[in-house]
Amino acid sequence: MSEPKKLYIKTYGCQMNVYDSERMSETLGGQGYVETQSPDDADMILLNTCHIREKAAEKVYSELGRFKGLKAEKPDLKIGVAGCVAQAEGEEIMRRQPLVDLVVGPQSYHRLPEMEAKTRTGARALDTDFPEEDKFEKLKNRPKAKRGPTAFLTVQEGCDKFCAFCVVPYTRGAEVSRPADRIIREAQDLVERGVREITLLGQNVNAYHGAGVNGDMTLAGLIWELNKVDGLERIRFTTSHPNDMADDLIEAHGTCEKLMPYLHLPVQSGSDRILKRMNRSHTAESYLRLIERIRAARPDIVMSGDFIVGFPEETEEDFQATMDLVEEVKYGYAYSFKYSTRPGTPAAERPQVDPEAADNRLQRLQALITQHQREIQDAMVGRKVRVLFEKPGRLPGQMVGKSEYLHSVHVSEADVAVGELRDVQITGSGANSLAGALF
Ligand code: SAH
Ligand code: SF4
Ligand code: F3S
Repeated sequence: MSEPKKLYIKTYGCQMNVYDSERMSETLGGQGYVETQSPDDADMILLNTCHIREKAAEKVYSELGRFKGLKAEKPDLKIGVAGCVAQAEGEEIMRRQPLVDLVVGPQSYHRLPEMEAKTRTGARALDTDFPEEDKFEKLKNRPKAKRGPTAFLTVQEGCDKFCAFCVVPYTRGAEVSRPADRIIREAQDLVERGVREITLLGQNVNAYHGAGVNGDMTLAGLIWELNKVDGLERIRFTTSHPNDMADDLIEAHGTCEKLMPYLHLPVQSGSDRILKRMNRSHTAESYLRLIERIRAARPDIVMSGDFIVGFPEETEEDFQATMDLVEEVKYGYAYSFKYSTRPGTPAAERPQVDPEAADNRLQRLQALITQHQREIQDAMVGRKVRVLFEKPGRLPGQMVGKSEYLHSVHVSEADVAVGELRDVQITGSGANSLAGALF
């Protein structure tokens, strides 16, 4: 038998890219590739890229430049660009970087085997179509190998919301939901391979409306079906849009035993004037009322969110409204970004905020978020949580896992295996994690 070819994949961006990288690796497995952790001994390098902010996109070109030497040493090395930069700038990548052999958009991964074969003839391959066929069905040939206790599972992809700052509707395409039975089969397969916790993924996951046995199913309907899967212990989902937070989903947070008390619900800004310009179609008030209802259903839920500061025309007063909203919600986690102009999006045409003012606002917002994050984490001390152990810690005998609230918890001298779920008494709170003892 010939030596297997080696594939090095580097993943940028969101969790969906992590899921996609796994699928690409499996697909190329059918072509005789095995994954390697180092680009130096690879026969193929794939960068799975993100286009969400300018910096993310620019990283790709600098990373590609670094492979020049490798390619000179090894002329047979194939270099590919996948993901959202590939979708948005495919032709430009080919022009700007002659090293690149292959460019594949997120909707065309199932065509990788043919594309790879084409590069072996010395030609370059580019595919950024939005094909009609179901790529998930074509990506099915999975090895039955064991895997870690947590996994991502894409249930919905694309977005029809067109927030004025965002490239996702252009790079991922229109919103599409996968049929429920296929998702459930995929979940069962993951569980057989050792997975105990699944995070359902979608750019607008709570807009899920996949075909079920009795017509379209909601995300809550899908979660209830997954709740029946033996051996699956935990269900999470991300990312949600406030406008799609349906009553049955809120209720599931109170009643569905495997659904975890953590919700990522981005609001982006606390100013109605800015929300309107962002095309978010919700107000700060409607968002706050929504959170009240979610907390009524599940009082201990930990909230998480995303914010953009320095959106075009944001004033100090608008920013203050964001700070007020954060103060009211108190997020357990939140991700905040300085607005980044994305060519082709409506906001790119609007008057931009002074970058220094935006930097200053970002710092103030992040300080407030960190303070709340710390308070919520510290309040866990003395409580009993349930931890899914994921891996050994840095110290000998230490094991690390996640609580139901997604806090990292480490336990010393822990006689537990990876994949075990155990009750843990929280004894301390550090910068980014909690310390605990087995119950
Ligand atoms: N689909 C998800 C996430 C989209 S991208 C959602 O709708 O929430 C993740 C986050 O990146 C967004 O929530 C937003 O806060 C941020 N983001 C998107 N476009 C951006 C831009 N042009 N500049 C800065 N941050 C941006
Ligand atoms: Fe982007 Fe808005 Fe769609 Fe989220 S809802 S992916 S921010 S356009
Ligand atoms: Fe980035 Fe594309 Fe995800 S732009 S955030 S990789 S959907």
